[in-house]
Amino acid sequence: MRSPAVYIETFGCQMNEYDTELVRSILKDSGYGFTDSSDTADIVLLNTCAIRENAHNKVYGHLGELKHLKKGKGLVIGVLGCMAQNLKKDLLTANSLIDVLAGPDSYRALPQLLKQAAAGQKSMAVDLSEYETYADITPDRVPGVTAWIAVMRGCDNFCSFCVVPYTRGRERSRTFEDVLREAAALVESGCKQITLLGQNVNSYHDGRHDFADLLLAVAELPGVVRVRFTSPHPKDFPQKLLEAVADHPRICKHIHLPLQSGNDRILEMMARTYTRAEYLGLVERIRSLRPDMVLTTDIIAGFCSETDTEFQDTYTLITEIEYHCAYIFKYSERKNTIAARKFKDDVLEEVKAERVSRLIDFQRAISLKKNRAMIGKVVAVLIEGDGKRTSEQWMGHTDGNLVCVFPKSNQNLKPGGLTPVLITDATVTTLYAESP
Ligand code: SAH
Ligand code: SF4
Ligand code: F3S
Repeated sequence: MRSPAVYIETFGCQMNEYDTELVRSILKDSGYGFTDSSDTADIVLLNTCAIRENAHNKVYGHLGELKHLKKGKGLVIGVLGCMAQNLKKDLLTANSLIDVLAGPDSYRALPQLLKQAAAGQKSMAVDLSEYETYADITPDRVPGVTAWIAVMRGCDNFCSFCVVPYTRGRERSRTFEDVLREAAALVESGCKQITLLGQNVNSYHDGRHDFADLLLAVAELPGVVRVRFTSPHPKDFPQKLLEAVADHPRICKHIHLPLQSGNDRILEMMARTYTRAEYLGLVERIRSLRPDMVLTTDIIAGFCSETDTEFQDTYTLITEIEYHCAYIFKYSERKNTIAARKFKDDVLEEVKAERVSRLIDFQRAISLKKNRAMIGKVVAVLIEGDGKRTSEQWMGHTDGNLVCVFPKSNQNLKPGGLTPVLITDATVTTLYAESP
C-alpha cells in the first residue's frame, strides 16, 4: 500500500519553520510520505501562528480553500502550532473541517492522532510540557547553506500583550552537548551558517552553560562560517554576551533588539522590564564595542491607552537609534493575555493604522539611507542561491544580515562560498553589488 501523502503549510516565525522540520521527521519515521501541494495530499497540516489576529485570519482563509478537497476526496485536515494550542477545543468545535489538533509540545502524538482521524475520529493533543525539547529528533531539513537549531523553547517573560507564553509554555533549554552535536552534524553535511533559535534565545541555560558559552562554542566548531541567533530579549545581555558577538569573527554583527515602545509608562504596562533609558544604555554599550553592529527591532503601535504624546516617544527613539530595519505592528488583543484581562484595547483602529503607517514610512527612509551609505564599500556575502528575479544573479546576506544580489560573473563561486563584493546600489530592502 502506498504511504499517505502529507502536505504541510507553515505560518508564523522561524520556530514554527523548525517545528515543521521536526514534524516531517516524526511522520517520516512512522511511514508517511510528503507532497508539495494540497491537491495531491491525503493529509493537510497547517502549522499555525497566533501572534496577531491576522495570523488567525490567514488560517481561517486557508481552511476555507480546503473545503472542496475535504468534500471531494475525504482529505484529513490537521491544525498544529500556536493557534491550536491557543484555541484548543473551541477551534475543533468551531470549524467542522478540522480532524486533528496538536499543540507545539504534542508532535510526538501526531502519528497516533492521524491514525484516529483516518478511522473517522476527531482527535486532539494540546498539553504543554515543562520538559519537551525534541532533543532526540533530528529535523528533516532541506540540505543547504543555512540551517536553524532550536536551543530553547517556551517563554517565561509574560509581556502583557503576548500570547507566546500560553502557546509555547515554560522555558526549557536543550543541553549544550546536544546542541553542539546537532551543529557539528549540520556542518559535516555541508551547512555553513547556523542560526540558534529560541522564543527568548539569550535566556538559554542548561544548568552549566549560558547563552554566551553556547554561541561561542558553536562559532568555534571547525567548518562553521557564520553563526546567528534570534530572538533575544534586551533584559539578557550580559557584557560577556555582547563581547562574544562584537569580537568573534564568525558570530554575525547583527542584533535584533525588540523595543516595542519608547515610552516608559507603556513599557511598564507591557511588562518589558526595561525603561527607555536602560534600553538606550544597552544600545550605547553595543555601539561602543562595535559601531558597525546592525540593529533591528520590533515595535507595537497603539497598545492599550497609548496617547499621541506617548507614541511620539517611540518615534523619537527610532530617530535617535536609527535601526537598520524595524518590524512595526498594530496592537492586536490576544485571548488570555495579561493585557486582555487587565487593560482596555481602546486606541481606535484608524489611530493604530495611522501610527503604524507613519512609523513604516519613517523607518523605510532610514533603511534606505543606511543601505545607500554602504555604496562603495566592500563586504563579505555568504552565497545562498540564485537571486529571486533571475538565475543570472547570486543572492546572499552580509554579515549584518542585509540581502545582497550580484551577477554571476565569477565562474568559481557557488552556494556556500563566502565572497567579498563591492556594493554599487541599494534600495530599502536590497543591496546590489559587483562580483570581485
Ligand atoms: N520572543 C520574541 C517575540 C516574538 S513575537 C521577542 O520577544 O522578541 C514577534 C513580535 O510580534 C514581538 O516582538 C512584538 O513586536 C509582536 N507582537 C507580539 N504580540 C503582539 C500583539 N498582541 N499585537 C501586536 N504585535 C505583537
Ligand atoms: Fe512574547 Fe515577551 Fe516572550 Fe517575546 S519575550 S515571546 S514578546 S512574552
Ligand atoms: Fe506565532 Fe507561535 Fe511563533 S504565535 S510568532 S508561531 S511562537
